[in-house]
Amino acid sequence: MSPKTYSIACIPADGIGPEVINAGITALSALTDTLKTFQLKFKNYDWSSETYKKTGKYIPDGGLEELKKHDAIFFGAVGAPDVPDHISLWGLRLAICQPFQQYANVRPTRVFRGTESPLRKCGPKDLDWVIIRENSEGEYAGQGGRSHAGKPWEVATEVSIFSRHGVERIMRFAFETAQKRPRKLLTVVTKSNAQRNGMVLWDEVAKLVAVDFHDVTVDKMLVDAMTTRMVLKPESLDTIVATNLHADILSDLAASLAGSIGIAPTSNLDPTREYPSMFEPIHGSAFDITGMGISNPVATFWTAAEMLAWLGEEEASKQLLACVENVCEQGILTRDLGGDATTKQVTDAVVAEIKKLA
Ligand code: NAI
Ligand code: MG
Repeated sequence: MSPKTYSIACIPADGIGPEVINAGITALSALTDTLKTFQLKFKNYDWSSETYKKTGKYIPDGGLEELKKHDAIFFGAVGAPDVPDHISLWGLRLAICQPFQQYANVRPTRVFRGTESPLRKCGPKDLDWVIIRENSEGEYAGQGGRSHAGKPWEVATEVSIFSRHGVERIMRFAFETAQKRPRKLLTVVTKSNAQRNGMVLWDEVAKLVAVDFHDVTVDKMLVDAMTTRMVLKPESLDTIVATNLHADILSDLAASLAGSIGIAPTSNLDPTREYPSMFEPIHGSAFDITGMGISNPVATFWTAAEMLAWLGEEEASKQLLACVENVCEQGILTRDLGGDATTKQVTDAVVAEIKKLA
């Protein structure tokens, strides 16, 4: 019997996206060649700010239908200096996440062996978190508008949407995630002191869902206080659930506390599996280092590992991540982690580790 083949849509897009996605494909190909237990078939889509500037569209007609044929989407980053960020984000990333109902955004962070947290006294065991971000509504629902453009009395509204359905499904997902982790500890982030409608519904639904998860310990934190707890008591946290905006901010903080934004992955999951899920490093297109060959590919390797786990290849996922961590431990680190290795040197070192799995 020929090994199982998964079809992966690759959208490297902008800035360092193509550099890190290439590194990711190199590592994944080495892994499948070595393990020989499954195969990956990659199809590249050159949707980017360049195509937007030429055609006026990030995703060509029929593009989403085309994406649906794949088992997963491997995404780089979108954003260019000469395109407003709200156009690029809504034109490509959110244009996939929202119609594909990738409502659960999963953002694990931890301190790898061989890397250092900028926090004094924070070792690998003290920071091991998974942030679950609501990814379909909330503050990024796209509701609102502008009137009286350019006039002194111009107004703009940005309306947050919290639906019982949307909140309940992300809470269930977060409780299930917490339940599968050894500490079974979930922190619900909120701002229900100041935001007295949506955030109060958020808290109420969290309480209702908690009833079905007696073995999970839950606590509630206001988002502002949460930033101090992340910095001062990282070891007191494990799984965290927060709204689209709050988790967006907290997860960049989390990645930096673990050493660099260049290591953390993101999964945009449709837990119903009706649509393919999308996997991307947490960072953006990093114009300041594009083309210099120094972008950290670790976030993309970890992203690739998360993608394999979602596809059902848990063992291969663990093996890939262990190879990446071994390379960090050998001190082969890019500049953002305090080293001087290039993207290629890190990638070659990870491939060399993968080959040892044979
Ligand atoms: P960014 O994540 O691109 O960069 C922030 C800082 O981190 C920069 O100094 C950059 O050099 C560094 N950095 C990021 N990734 C790195 C890596 N792999 N290795 C080493 N250093 C790395 O965030 P920024 O500058 O706010 O945004 C740049 C563009 O990216 C914007 O257009 C923004 O909208 C877009 N963006 C896109 C995202 C996505 O596609 N999911 C996510 C975040 C931002
Ligand atoms: Mg962000």
